[in-house]
Amino acid sequence: MSKDDDKPKLRSAEWFGRQDSYGFIYRSWMKNQGHTADMFDGKPVIGICNTWSDLTPCNGHLRGLAEHVKRGVYAAGGFPLEFPVLSLGESNMRPTTMLFRNLASMDVEASIRANPLDGVVLLVGCDKTTPASLMGAASVDLPTILVSGGPMLSGRWKGKQIGSGTDVIRFKEAVRAGAMTVDEFMAAEAAMSRSAGSCMTMGTASTMASLCEGLGIALPENGAIPAVDARRQAMAFNAGRRAVEMVREKLRMSHILTKAAFLNAVRLNAALGGSTNAVVHLLALAGRLGVDFTLADWDAAGRDVPCLVNLMPSGQYLMEDFFHAGGVPAVLGEIASMLDLDAMTVTGKPLGQSHISPAVHDSAVIYPLAAPFKPAGGIAVLRGNLSPDGAVIKPSAATPHLMQHTGPAIVFNDPDDLKARIDDPSLPVDENSVLVLRNCGPKGYPGMAEIGNLPIPRRVLDKGILDMVRISDARMSGTAFGTVVLHVAPEAAAGGPLALVRDGDLITLDVANRRLHLDVSEVELERRRHDLAPFVSPYQRGWEKLYVEHVLQADSGADMDFLIGGSGDYVPRVSH
Ligand code: FES
Ligand code: MG
Repeated sequence: MSKDDDKPKLRSAEWFGRQDSYGFIYRSWMKNQGHTADMFDGKPVIGICNTWSDLTPCNGHLRGLAEHVKRGVYAAGGFPLEFPVLSLGESNMRPTTMLFRNLASMDVEASIRANPLDGVVLLVGCDKTTPASLMGAASVDLPTILVSGGPMLSGRWKGKQIGSGTDVIRFKEAVRAGAMTVDEFMAAEAAMSRSAGSCMTMGTASTMASLCEGLGIALPENGAIPAVDARRQAMAFNAGRRAVEMVREKLRMSHILTKAAFLNAVRLNAALGGSTNAVVHLLALAGRLGVDFTLADWDAAGRDVPCLVNLMPSGQYLMEDFFHAGGVPAVLGEIASMLDLDAMTVTGKPLGQSHISPAVHDSAVIYPLAAPFKPAGGIAVLRGNLSPDGAVIKPSAATPHLMQHTGPAIVFNDPDDLKARIDDPSLPVDENSVLVLRNCGPKGYPGMAEIGNLPIPRRVLDKGILDMVRISDARMSGTAFGTVVLHVAPEAAAGGPLALVRDGDLITLDVANRRLHLDVSEVELERRRHDLAPFVSPYQRGWEKLYVEHVLQADSGADMDFLIGGSGDYVPRVSH
């Protein structure tokens, strides 16, 4: 118990600093773990919020990494306490991890607020663990720093680099074509995921880990240091140390995650050719902090930023190559003229003085701003009578001539309908058709699954055509590509116009003018709306029921209506 009145009052002192029977209880039970009395003497208590799980293979090494965070906390005079939260593993969880992102965020928020914590280190990796942890922590708003587990080492098979997710489809086709045996296929599994870490393409995990640098909520190089490189352990140590200092500096999440930080992240995402999933995650995070950051901001901030990074899925290289080429600090250096360099970061210094390095070591991986890898990096936001509240497309992953296209709709009512008919030889489809998939949004699927990159129908594939315009209320994997319009809002299950489209209706996609138009009169649409049966979710209990009833649309980041904003770091009443 501290008697030093000069020290700033710590939140944890409401537990450990008391001389009454409550203080006895708080300290005594903790001491059964072997902590010495001086641990309770006014040291900043740092919670290490760990998304480790055997079921989340990308986060399987995070308990080991937590030890390095602890060393850093001790080195700075803090008291580290590690705790588990719901972990979301992209490769195993059904129907989709996104159904549980908001649930995990509630776990994080409750675990932080209910406990004697002064600061937090978020240990994350696989796709949804990053936004879920940030959202939950932001609703408490303690001094917080994020540490990612880092990407796997590059996959390598028969002398060629292979990338997480992106090469799975190629192998599947090779087996179908007889070019690869099943034994080889299974050997390639081990060659793809050959070390600890998350997907080593620029999918959602690497996108989010990298954007955390742009947001200033993680230390420099958080995105790209390989999971097994000792420099990631050193970064975790430094994060533990900084968390203690941030408590002393009263540097809260809300001081870092300002509008300027979000706009910097959007620009970085464009330069990285990052995942469309970042759109819903950053919108949801901003919502927790009360930051006025919208889909329109995404479009405007990213519009003039080219894609500089030649990584799968849009390019050729992998995260390990990106790290050696200079990683995120080098990309931030290239686009420095487009950034708000005064945005505060977890280092206690502004972005321009802490997170930027002008050194690109390999210009085949990180292109210069003057001669970019692809001209349009930003994510375009489309509006029109088919998406009154917006839809998104990633131009860098699309076919240029399809970005201005009008064609007749072929409508699939849900994923089962799609699977049943997509390769049907009698499907009246050609390369001018516009494939529409609905009832796959937040409420409809539920959880807004990653199935928006509909397969190309066999009839079209047989002509050697590999891309078509596709439109849905779903998301797509960060490792996927194509002329794919996603996140249509409102979704069909929420009564959006997507529910009204019929086979043969003409749809116009006009990316340059940010337009998505259904060529059907308002009168006819009203008539169809009148005939539309209301959506009834088959989920009538548990989390799924709560989720479907309260989830917001993609343009609000698909957060729950009752989770917008935060409740702060107040100390709840005592329990005994
Ligand atoms: Fe975990 Fe890709 S499956 S990061
Ligand atoms: Mg993914």
